[in-house]
Amino acid sequence: MLPDGFYQFFSFLRAITSPATKFEGVVGDGREKALLKHVLISADNDSPDSVLEAVNDFCKRTWLMCIGDEKGALLDSCVLHRNPRVALELGAYCGYSATRIASQMKEPASMLISLEMNATNVDTARQLINHAGLSSRVRVINGVLSEKLQELRNILNSLKTNIFEFVFIDHNKDSYLSDFLLLKENGLIGKGTVIVADNMKFPGSPKYRRYLRKHSEEFETVELKCAFEYISWLPDSLMVSTWK
Ligand SMILES: C[S@@+](CC[C@H](N)C(=O)[O-])C[C@H]1O[C@@H](n2cnc3c(N)ncnc32)[C@H](O)[C@@H]1O
Repeated sequence: MLPDGFYQFFSFLRAITSPATKFEGVVGDGREKALLKHVLISADNDSPDSVLEAVNDFCKRTWLMCIGDEKGALLDSCVLHRNPRVALELGAYCGYSATRIASQMKEPASMLISLEMNATNVDTARQLINHAGLSSRVRVINGVLSEKLQELRNILNSLKTNIFEFVFIDHNKDSYLSDFLLLKENGLIGKGTVIVADNMKFPGSPKYRRYLRKHSEEFETVELKCAFEYISWLPDSLMVSTWK
């Protein structure tokens, strides 16, 4: 029997070379469905930690593009440090990072909105988040930011605020800068908002990085070095930017 790492490496290669991963947000071999089944069977109900552990366990053999445990712990500390009441995620996938973020939001009546372009992923994420007991504090919306601006404004109004205090960007790497600018130009983020961007080393988002470097008087940015999700030898980083 071959070690789990062997299967994991080939499932990683399959995922990063599959056009469906980039264009549809699923690898195309049913692994997301298998993950959900594994979580529903093996994780305790109403336990975010148990759900996260079940996903991490699954990913030891089958690689998935969830943020993973090492980077996830850095994301947790960013959320805890900013302590947002209202947060936004771009790219829910199966709901792993949404579960992490929501479980670290300690303000009463806190709310995470997660935007996801793929309807099947939306369904998977909702079921995973529901199993973790967090569905009253996470709303997964199907769509892309440019088409959901008014809906987001309405949600912010209903939560009696104007801006997202925390944003996690983890969707299409070519859309990081354009969606960040959409949030900024539409007033959905503001002074004090913390924006965390994943995969800034691998595969990277050069235009977003250049923008933050050029606008350092407006955004204070630190880069947190870490390994890529579930692949310990592949360097990656999170960029954490605060609107001054
Ligand atoms: C890397 S995965 C997100 C992983 C998730 N944040 C986690 O760590 O558990 C990227 C997700 O973004 C979605 N996506 C890609 N482009 C998008 C866009 N423009 N708007 C919304 N979702 C998008 C994909 O369908 C995919 O589910």
